Amino acid sequence: MARIVHNYPVAPGCYRMGLSPGVDRVEPGQFVMIRIPGGLDPLLRRPFSVYNVLRGRGGGIEIVYKVVGRGTGMMASLGVGDEVDVLGPLGRGFPMPGKKERVVMVAGGVGVASLHLLAKRIGYGTLLFGGRNRRDARLAGDFRDLMEVKIVTEDGSMGRKGFVTEFVEEEIGEEGTVVYACGPSAMLEKVSCIAMDRGVRCYVSLEGMMACGMGVCLGCAVKADGAYRMVCSDGPVFRCDEIDWQGMDG
Ligand SMILES: Cc1cc2nc3c(=O)[nH]c(=O)nc-3n(C[C@H](O)[C@H](O)[C@H](O)COP(=O)(O)OP(=O)(O)OC[C@H]3O[C@@H](n4cnc5c(N)ncnc54)[C@H](O)[C@@H]3O)c2cc1C
Ligand code: FES
Repeated sequence: MARIVHNYPVAPGCYRMGLSPGVDRVEPGQFVMIRIPGGLDPLLRRPFSVYNVLRGRGGGIEIVYKVVGRGTGMMASLGVGDEVDVLGPLGRGFPMPGKKERVVMVAGGVGVASLHLLAKRIGYGTLLFGGRNRRDARLAGDFRDLMEVKIVTEDGSMGRKGFVTEFVEEEIGEEGTVVYACGPSAMLEKVSCIAMDRGVRCYVSLEGMMACGMGVCLGCAVKADGAYRMVCSDGPVFRCDEIDWQGMDG
């Protein structure tokens, strides 16, 4: 059980929640499963990337989440001192870049949450962030001290106008770059195609639906390298050329 130490809005419909005590040895890209105790609704735990590790008294972790349904709606209504059930850290995270590799991160909306710990560990590179408008772009705020940040908004209210995938090609360059991406499946597929065309190493973090989070229920299977792999235990991070993108449901 973890106690909520903060839970405040950071962008439209998005909240930052701090939980204490923390968990040991988190790899960037790993996630925790959270359940609100004291009821069966919603029954299942919900997965969230570890956004940050808090040092100091008792330690802790932070997550950044978007309200999309019942579970996240209930989380947004919780306050300091409330408790939630946390399982993790789970899954396999992002590998670190090679010594001379350029780093490009590509994020769509709240997908940026899975890249923050990685950005902190690496401490250089470029983040290409895509959101609907300038208020969504607040989600990229914490990256500004860590790396170069380039914003793309659908309505053009901040940075360049369009979809983030339109700008990936020029950012990736040629060999010698490693790409890390997280966001909607269609975005990941486009980023992966560009990276594969350029012969660039690229890792994607998938956000499939999950029930157990530990490779038991088989509910999060994706086709990768000609076999079924579990997003929760074999991923959520995969090399982009492992994934059978035709078999993904978008
Ligand atoms: C490894 C992993 C890490 C994640 N990290 C984060 C994170 O850091 N921050 C964050 O905001 N979200 C993250 N997610 C997504 C998050 O788990 C879901 O948004 C959450 O479970 C929704 O719960 P809910 O009860 O509010 O929605 P529900 O009531 O269960 O669903 C509401 C709607 O959202 C859709 N939905 C639910 N889950 C997903 C999903 N995973 N992908 C796309 N659509 C979904 C449903 O189809 C439905 O239409 C992550 C998912 C995975 C698998
Ligand atoms: S969520 Fe149960 S196997 Fe992945």
